[in-house]
Amino acid sequence: MERLQKVIASSGYASRRKAEELIKAGKVYVNDQKVTQLGTKVNPSDDIRIDGQHLTLEKKEYYLLNKPRGIISSAHDDKGRKTVVDLIETNARIYPIGRLDYDTTGLIILTNDGTLAQKLAHPSQKVEKTYIAKLDKILTTEDFYQLKKGVVIEGKKVIPTKLKIKSKDKQKQTSLITISIVEGRNHIVKKIFNQLGYDVKKLKRESYDFLTLGNLKSGEYRELSLEEIKKLYR
Ligand code: URA
Repeated sequence: MERLQKVIASSGYASRRKAEELIKAGKVYVNDQKVTQLGTKVNPSDDIRIDGQHLTLEKKEYYLLNKPRGIISSAHDDKGRKTVVDLIETNARIYPIGRLDYDTTGLIILTNDGTLAQKLAHPSQKVEKTYIAKLDKILTTEDFYQLKKGVVIEGKKVIPTKLKIKSKDKQKQTSLITISIVEGRNHIVKKIFNQLGYDVKKLKRESYDFLTLGNLKSGEYRELSLEEIKKLYR
């Protein structure tokens, strides 16, 4: 038996707080009975209905995808474009944890485990993500050290946890930079380089916490192991 608000949150329907609000507002029915008492215990076999919609307590699934370019990082797209969820063969209602831009490639996790998704998305978790950015110029030594010290983006300083010049192409005047950050703001890597006067021509996420792409080719995915899921929960 588990607390109703926890079951709703782990189904991915809503956050724990939102679930509590829904219960208090009398929107939640368990086996056709309205429940307004927070902390009511339910069984996995109980039928939970919110605003007329039945909650499916699906088995939890976890995937690591190497996202190709030109794919949306959300569960649905209003314009009907292909999303990361379309690339995974499952009937579970999975969604990505965090976002990668339409033109960004690389590692993204998808799950229907709302509890894990909320935990990892929370800024206090400080999940380190590593990206490889191809810049439209060669990063100067001055800017490299400026970046190491941190760059203020929309009033908040971002200090990379790791920063390395991977390579420079003198002929094409481009450079490849490895940058790790714990920030989760949208377009953050592009904004960091834009701030210093560089354009990010290509961006790839190579790792998320301890997870790496390994041998996965663009568009390929694999399930996370139980060990990996436990580690993400820690
Ligand atoms: N930072 C960006 O600018 N884009 C991404 O997709 C991820 C991080």
